[in-house]
Amino acid sequence: GGGCGACTVMVSRYNPREKTISHFSANACLLPVCQLHLAAVTTTEGIGSTETRIHPVQERIAKANGSQCGFCTPGMVMSLYALLRNQPQPSLEDIVEALGGNLCRCTGYRPIVDGCKTFCGVRMSVMRHLESLLVDNGVPELFHEGDLLPQDPTQELIFPPELMLMAESQRPLTQTFCGERITWVSPVTLRELVELKAKHPKAPLVLGNTGVGLEMKFKGILHPVIISPTRVPELYEVNKTPDGVWVGAACSLTSLKTLVEKLVRELHEDQVETFSALLQQLRSLGGQQIRNVASLGGNIASAAPNSDLNPVLAAGRCILSVISKGGRREIAVNEDFFVGFGKTALKQDEIILSVFIPVSKRGEFVRAFRQAPRKANALATVTSGMRVRFAQGTDAVEDLAIFYGGVGPCTVGATKTCREVIGRRWNEETLNEAYRLLLDEISLPPSAPGGKVEFRRSLTLSFLFKFNLQMLQKLNEMVASRSSRSEPSWRWQVRPDCSDKRRLTFGTCRSQEVSQGQRGDDLVGRPVMHRSALSQATGEAVYCDDIAGSQGELFLALVTSTRAHAKLIKIDDGEALKLPGVVDAVTAKDIPGKKFRTFTGIDEELVWLPASTLQVTCVGQMVGAVVADTRQHAKQGAAAVKVVYEDLPDRVLTIEEAIEKKSFFKPQREIERGNVTEGFRKADQMLEGEIRIGGQEHFYMETQSMLVVPSGEEKELKVYLSCQHPTYAQSIAETLGIPSNRVSCHVKRMGGAFGGKVTKTSILASITALAAWKTGQAVRCVLERGDDMLITGARHPVLANYKVGFMNDGRIIAADIHVFAKIFTLDVSLVIEKILLHIDNAYSVPNLRGRATACKTNLPSNTAFRGFGVPQSMLVVESVINDVAMKESVVSPPLQIREKNMYKGPSITHYKLQFDPENLLRCWDECLQKADYHSRRTTIAQFNQSNRFKKRGIAVIPIKYGIAFAECFLNQAAALVHIYKDGSVLVSHGGAEMGQGIHTKMQQVASRELRIPVSLIHISETSTNVVPNTCPSAASFGTDANGMAVKMACETLLQRLEPVIREDPKGTWQSWVSWPNVVSLCRGPDTYMDWKKQEGQPYAYFTYGTCCSEVEVDCLTGDYQTLRTDIVMDIGRSINPSIDIGQIEGAFMQGLGLYTMEERKFSPSGMLYPRGPAQYKIPAVCDMPLKFNVYLLAGSSNLHAIYSSKGIGEPVLFLGSSVFFAIKDAVAAARKDVGLGGPFKLDSPACPEETCLACASCFVQMVPVPKPGSFQPWAIDV
Ligand SMILES: Cc1cc2nc3c(=O)[nH]c(=O)nc-3n(C[C@H](O)[C@H](O)[C@H](O)COP(=O)(O)OP(=O)(O)OC[C@H]3O[C@@H](n4cnc5c(N)ncnc54)[C@H](O)[C@@H]3O)c2cc1C
Ligand code: FES
Repeated sequence: GGGCGACTVMVSRYNPREKTISHFSANACLLPVCQLHLAAVTTTEGIGSTETRIHPVQERIAKANGSQCGFCTPGMVMSLYALLRNQPQPSLEDIVEALGGNLCRCTGYRPIVDGCKTFCGVRMSVMRHLESLLVDNGVPELFHEGDLLPQDPTQELIFPPELMLMAESQRPLTQTFCGERITWVSPVTLRELVELKAKHPKAPLVLGNTGVGLEMKFKGILHPVIISPTRVPELYEVNKTPDGVWVGAACSLTSLKTLVEKLVRELHEDQVETFSALLQQLRSLGGQQIRNVASLGGNIASAAPNSDLNPVLAAGRCILSVISKGGRREIAVNEDFFVGFGKTALKQDEIILSVFIPVSKRGEFVRAFRQAPRKANALATVTSGMRVRFAQGTDAVEDLAIFYGGVGPCTVGATKTCREVIGRRWNEETLNEAYRLLLDEISLPPSAPGGKVEFRRSLTLSFLFKFNLQMLQKLNEMVASRSSRSEPSWRWQVRPDCSDKRRLTFGTCRSQEVSQGQRGDDLVGRPVMHRSALSQATGEAVYCDDIAGSQGELFLALVTSTRAHAKLIKIDDGEALKLPGVVDAVTAKDIPGKKFRTFTGIDEELVWLPASTLQVTCVGQMVGAVVADTRQHAKQGAAAVKVVYEDLPDRVLTIEEAIEKKSFFKPQREIERGNVTEGFRKADQMLEGEIRIGGQEHFYMETQSMLVVPSGEEKELKVYLSCQHPTYAQSIAETLGIPSNRVSCHVKRMGGAFGGKVTKTSILASITALAAWKTGQAVRCVLERGDDMLITGARHPVLANYKVGFMNDGRIIAADIHVFAKIFTLDVSLVIEKILLHIDNAYSVPNLRGRATACKTNLPSNTAFRGFGVPQSMLVVESVINDVAMKESVVSPPLQIREKNMYKGPSITHYKLQFDPENLLRCWDECLQKADYHSRRTTIAQFNQSNRFKKRGIAVIPIKYGIAFAECFLNQAAALVHIYKDGSVLVSHGGAEMGQGIHTKMQQVASRELRIPVSLIHISETSTNVVPNTCPSAASFGTDANGMAVKMACETLLQRLEPVIREDPKGTWQSWVSWPNVVSLCRGPDTYMDWKKQEGQPYAYFTYGTCCSEVEVDCLTGDYQTLRTDIVMDIGRSINPSIDIGQIEGAFMQGLGLYTMEERKFSPSGMLYPRGPAQYKIPAVCDMPLKFNVYLLAGSSNLHAIYSSKGIGEPVLFLGSSVFFAIKDAVAAARKDVGLGGPFKLDSPACPEETCLACASCFVQMVPVPKPGSFQPWAIDV
C-alpha cells in the first residue's frame, strides 16, 4: 500500500500544450492501469541490463554494496533514477528526500546513500576525498569512485515518440474501461465531470488513488463506478490574486510543494506564513512517491483524522471552491467542515475545484507541528496548525486559530480555548490559562482508538508551547518597547535551537588490509561486490514469485483463526467452493502423513482438525487453506470459509497473566555461579528493577513465498521456496507420508529472512505441498504482508526482573535475573537457553544467577530473529549496569561502571568457559578513542545545561557474542564442487543466500583454494538434492561451516589433480581439468552445554565489539535523532570486508529499530494491530545516524573459523541498544531538570511516546492518568 517503495517505477507524461515531458516516481502498487493512458512507465529492467549495458544508477548502488538481499533495490534504483531525470546533479538532501519513501531492511541505508552520493557532482567528490584523507590513511576504500561508469544523460531512454504523436493528434475523448466488477470513467471537461458525479454521487474521484486504492485493497471496499478527473484542466489551474492563491484541487502534493516553495521565495515574508507552514508539513508527508501522485483535493476530501494539511489549511483560513450540478459555492475549511471519520460537509455530488490559500498579513503568524512514529513517511500521531494575529505593535491577540489532527475522528479545532485567549495579551499568564483550557477542550477517552492517550494529550500542549516560544521570539522582534512586555520565567532556558539545521555528513567505513604477499588475484579479504548485486539492481534476479507459472497452476490463500482461545466447532467451506475459480479447500484432515512438525525434537501442529475437541490458540492460527485459479479468487475463497468457534475461558495474553496463572513450558532453565545470596549479604547497596522488551517483526521485504510442483511421476515434488532451512522444509515428505528422496527443495535467494524463514516457512511449505498433493497441480503461496505479519510470529518479547548487589564504587558483586520470554509453541523455546548463556554480556559478575522461563500465551508463537534472545538478554544486563550507575549514591557515570565490571585478563564465563577478553577491551578502547568520547561528553553536558527541552545523550555499549550453535549437530555443513571439462566450476553448499553474501564468500573461498578467477566459479542455488541434510543458515555460522566444507571439497579435488599438474606443470587450469566431482563433509566445532552441571562450551568463539552513539532528544515530543555512531568490531580477518561491513550496518539499524521504533501492539482480544508498513515502522533513510563510522579491529585473528574470519550476521544488532541508552542518558538529563534523579524505568522500544513520558515535562505532568483497571485500553503490552 505505498509504504515500502519496493515497487517504485518512473512515470513520464508528455504535455502537448506546453510541449514538455515530466517524470516522477510512483508506487506501482497504487497506480491504476486505466490512469496510465498516454503515460510511459519505466522500470529498472528498462534502464539497463547485465546483458547489454548497466545504467550508472544500477552500477553505483551495486558497487557501493547497497544491495544485499536485493528485494528493495529496483525501487531504490528507480527513485534515484527519477530524481536524476529531473536533477542530474542533486544535492545530498535531494537524494535523502528521493529515497525517503523506500525501505530497506538489510543495508542500513549508508551504502545506498554512499552510492547515490557519487552523483552529487564535483563539490561532493572533493569533500569525500578530503574526508578520506582524514581517516585511516592507506586503508583501502570499499569501492573506488574512479572505476564507475560516467553519468551520460544523452544515453537516457527517450519518451516514446508514438505517445507524443498520440497526445498531439488525438482529440481528448471520454474514456470508459469496463472490468468484471468496476467501470472506470475518465471525462475531459468539467461539465462532463459534474454530470458524471451527479449521476454517480457515490463514485469516488480517483486522482492519486492513495486513499481509494488502500480502501479497496485492504478494506475490501468495492466501487462499481470510479471517476478519474485527471484530464480535466480546470482542476489543475493555479491563479494568484493579491489576497492569495487558488490551487487546483487535482494538483499533486509535489506540485503544491514546488508552488509554495516559489511563493515563499518570491513574496514578502509577512505574506508567506501559511505557505511556509504547509511547506514544512509537505516535507515529511508520506514519501516522495506518495507526494508525486496524491492530490491536494484528495487529502482534504479524505478527511483523515491525522491529515497533515487539513489543520494548517483550517488554521490558515483556506477556502474551497466546490462545484456540482446545483452550481458553485465556496466553503471554509474549518471545524464545521470536518464532520467525522473520513466525512466532510461536502455534499455527495460536490467536487472540490480549487483551494484558496490566503496570504498572511503583518503581525500574523502560522505554524505547523507534527509528531510521528518516524521522522518521514509516517502518518502523524498528532499534527497541528496554529495561527495568531497580534494587534499592530502590541502583544494583544486579535485572532487565534488552533487545529489538531490525531486527537479524534477528524481534524478538530480548539475554538473554546481560542475564544478565551482572543483579546488578551500573549504572556505567560494567558498561555498557562490556554494550556488548562486546551487540556479540557481537546480530550481523549482513555480507551480511544490508536491508544497513546497520555502522550497524544501531552503533545497538544507541547505544540502550543512550541508555538508560544516562536511567537515570543517574533514579539520580541516586533514589539519595539520590550518594557511593555512581561518576560516569561523560563525563557532564559530556551535558546533558539542550535541543532535544527543538522545534516547527514560523511562517515568512515574502510576495508581491512590483506596480508603482505597475498596474490593480487586472491580475493579473500578484499571488498568484493555481492555476486548478485548487479542482477538485483537491474531486476534480473529471480525471487521465488518470479518463477514463471505453469499451466493449471493454482494459488493458495490461508484461512486463519479470528479467536485467541476457542474450540473449533466447524470449518464450513461450502460457500467458498461455489465461488468462481475456487478449486478446493484443505484442512488437517487431508494430511496423509504426520500432522505435526518437529524441530529439535519438539512437535508443532500444522493445521487443526475441525473436531470439537480441538482448539485454536491464537488469532492468526492457520486452520485451513483454499486453492483457486488466481490469487484474487483464492483470497475471496478463503474469506468465504465459515469457521464456527466456541470461546474458551482463561485466555492468557500477557506475560504477567502467564506468570499469574503459571502458564509455563518446561523445562525452565537456571544457571548460577558463585553464591548469589552470600553476594547480596556482602553488597554495600541493593537495587531491584524490571524491564520489558517488546517483540520485533522481521519485515523481510519478500514475504513468505513458495511454489510446489508435483512432477506427476513416482510421487516426486519440486519445491521452490524462500527459506533459510531447506532441509527442514523437506519434511513435507513426513506430512505427505512419502520418503524424503521424493521431495527436492530449492532456494535460489531470499528477499531477506533474519531468522523468520527457518521454521515457519517449512510449515507453510507443508500446507502448500498438501494442496498440490490433493489437487495434483502446481500450487503457489505468497503471503500478503498483513497475513505474513499475523501468522509467522516475531522476535520473543521479554519481561525481566532483576535484583543486583553492588559496592559503593559501582562494582557489581551479585545479580539475580529472571527473564520471562513469551512463546506459544515450543519450536523455538530454545531461546531461553541462549538468553541465559548471554546474561553476562561483557561483564564478570562473581555471583550471578540467571533464570529463564518460557511463557505459554494465546498469541502467535514467536520465532527466531537475528540474535535469537541475545539482544533481549543483553539489554537486561546493560539496564542493570545503567541503573547502578544512576544511583545517586554511586558517583560514577555508566561508562565507568561498565569498565569496572568488564571481563579482564584470562576469564571464565558463568558456564565455565575459559576465554581471553583482550579483543573485547581493544574494541572498547579503540571505540572510545575513535569516537572522541571524553571530549564529546563534556560538550554534551554543556549543551544540556543551556537547553531545557532538547537534551543530548551518549552511550558506549560493548558486546561479547558467542558464535555457533550450542547444539553440536547443527554445526556442520557439506559442499559439492563440480569442475567441468571446460574449466568452469559449479559450487553447491548448504548455505542459503538471503542477502548476507554467503555465495560471494564461497566463491572467494573456492577461488583461493583452486587458484582460479572467481569468474570461472558459479553458484546456482541451494538444493536438498545436491547437498542433503543441511543445517539452517543461521546463528552467524553459515560462512564458518560452509566455508570449511567448500575449502575441503576444493582441497580434495586439487589433490586429485596434483598428478596431472605434476605431469604438465606448464599447463593451464583448463588443460588440467578433466575429472569430475567429489563430495566432502565438514564438521564444525564440538559445542555442548550441560544444563545439569551448568557448564559447557556452547560456542566456538566470541565476536567482540563496541559501539558509541550520541542522540538529541526533543523532550516535548520524544522525537530523537542519532547524531553520530562509531562502531569498532572484531571480526577476525574478514573474508569480504564490504559484505561484513554491510552486515554490521544493517544489523545496527535493525537493532536501532528494535530498541527505539518498532512496536507490535495487540488488541485486548489478542489481535495484532500493525499489519503493514503503514502501522509498523522500521528505520528508514531518515533514521540513519548523521555520521556513521565503522571500523574493523586490526590485527585480530581467529583459529576457529575459516581464514581466521568471524561470524558477524547477528552480533551487531545488539549494538543498536547504544541508541536506546543514549536516549536514556538524555532523558535522565531532562528528568534532572524537573527534580527527578536516580534510576528510572524505560522499556524497549523507547519510542517517542515512552521517551516523552519519561522526560516528565510539565505538560506530561498536567495530563491526568486514569486508574489502571478503570477502563479497557485500546492496546495491551504483551
Ligand atoms: C503510504 C502513504 C503515506 C501517507 N502519508 C501521509 C502523511 O504523512 N500525511 C498525510 O496527511 N497524508 C498521508 N497520506 C494520505 C495521502 O496524503 C492522501 O491519501 C492523499 O492526499 C489523497 O489524495 P489522492 O489524490 O491520492 O486521493 P484519492 O485516493 O484519489 O481519493 C481520495 C478521496 O478523495 C476524494 N476526492 C479526491 N479529489 C476530490 C475532489 N477534487 N473533490 C472531492 N472529492 C475528492 C475521492 O472521492 C476519494 O474519496 C499517506 C498515504 C499513503 C498511501
Ligand atoms: S537489500 Fe534492501 S531489503 Fe534487502
